[in-house]
Amino acid sequence: MSPPAVDPDLPTTIVIFGASGDLTHRKLVPALYSLHVKGRLPENFRLLGVARSPGDDETFRLAMRQATLGESAPSSPAWEAFAARLAYTQADPTDRKEAASVRRRLESLNGSRLGHLLFYLAVPPQAYADLVAALAAVGLTSDEAAWRRVVIEKPFGRDLVSAHALNDSIHRHLREDQIYRIDHYLGKETVQNVLVFRFANSIFEPIWNRNYIDHVQITVAESVGVEHRGPFYDSVGILRDVFQNHVLQLLCMAAMEPPASYQGDALRDERVKVLNAIRPLTGDDIARHTVRAQYAGYRQEAGVASDSATATFGALRLFIDNWRWQGVPFYLRSGKQMADKTTQISIQFRSVPHLMFPLPPGSEIRPNALFLCLQPDEGIHLRFEAKVPDTVSDMRTVDMDFHFAEDFGPGAIPEAYERLLLDALHGDPSLYTRADSIELAWSLVDPITQAWEEGRPKLLSYAPGSWGPDEAHKLLTSDGHAWSMGCGEHAA
Ligand code: BG6
Repeated sequence: MSPPAVDPDLPTTIVIFGASGDLTHRKLVPALYSLHVKGRLPENFRLLGVARSPGDDETFRLAMRQATLGESAPSSPAWEAFAARLAYTQADPTDRKEAASVRRRLESLNGSRLGHLLFYLAVPPQAYADLVAALAAVGLTSDEAAWRRVVIEKPFGRDLVSAHALNDSIHRHLREDQIYRIDHYLGKETVQNVLVFRFANSIFEPIWNRNYIDHVQITVAESVGVEHRGPFYDSVGILRDVFQNHVLQLLCMAAMEPPASYQGDALRDERVKVLNAIRPLTGDDIARHTVRAQYAGYRQEAGVASDSATATFGALRLFIDNWRWQGVPFYLRSGKQMADKTTQISIQFRSVPHLMFPLPPGSEIRPNALFLCLQPDEGIHLRFEAKVPDTVSDMRTVDMDFHFAEDFGPGAIPEAYERLLLDALHGDPSLYTRADSIELAWSLVDPITQAWEEGRPKLLSYAPGSWGPDEAHKLLTSDGHAWSMGCGEHAA
């Protein structure tokens, strides 16, 4: 069955399950409010919050106002207009009787036709399957008269087997085109800009391959530790939390072939092709190509086991077996409690084939590098050699910089959730993750997690505020490279 045609006269309701949670407060409602202020939400839009905590429309509106505008900020006409569209129902939606009460509430808000419904599952992952089954049981997933879509937060499974089982159980009630699995990195403007940079300019793509690129580095570094998420984090670790999704998606954006269009499955197909071409790490390769470490003091964090072997830092060397990337190493690293928060992709070009300029003994020139700075100082930097004026042929490495804030103004970059919510409302899944892609990513990560859990390679320690253990540097120096960070003033 194909999705129903959009009837613009029907009301549209976003139902957030987990409405009393952190994500709703910090990200979802502020993003929806910002879309409301920009006039981008459907005209007859509503938001129904659902959670187990007691509450009513008024308490929900107040809590959302504080979360969005600030504790003591005064209200405003824009907020009042938005707040009038907010409602709350106390329910455990995994229970079918209570799901029926959610349906009754929707009927009381929108009439028996219910209207278009976007369900957002901001609930613990173990509730996803039951919640979707309960929605189906009370007739909230069938979309003959209006569309029904479900946004599912990460983590989607904790390995291939569980992700596959979850896909199976959700597919019993929803078609794939109704399912929007979120990876908020794909909603980031700068991540989408990787594609604009590569495919809306003609000068980069011809050199974007093994003939000119020596290697690629991807860093997703956070200066914070596990914060209040100790128990959750301790059960997942860095590979499941960040590599399986965000880091691999960044790799896909940097490595994919040009899709024919920017919509629907074209982008998703290309991302899947990259994942399919990544050479899986297995057996002894895992000890050779990966580094795992834990920051000193992690075991004292609240909710973390005192003998925990969970990695909070990882570094990987991967290869992509296709014509474009054969032999080009992709070095990926991510960690908590690192020296700085920065997410960047650096494209390291090959050295010049012959240098005609004399260099002082022992010195060498640095190959060109392109830095795609995804956060926090969003922009693009190109590193090249320039002649030092008033010398015969001395050279110095300089940077050509583009900063989003300078060209588009401060605050021009919206929260990733704005774009993602809007796309789900418009029925565009291209920045969401398809079932095959999630499963492929798990199939790449699973053997590594398993080896790590068996103690291969050894768990190292690193100092909070550093760039990880020495071995993460050796992963590159052993290939004649070094981590090179061109965004901001970071020392690698
Ligand atoms: C989340 C992870 O998916 O991404 C967190 O669960 C991590 O551990 C966060 O802190 C990073 O997101 P961002 O947008 O701050 O880079």
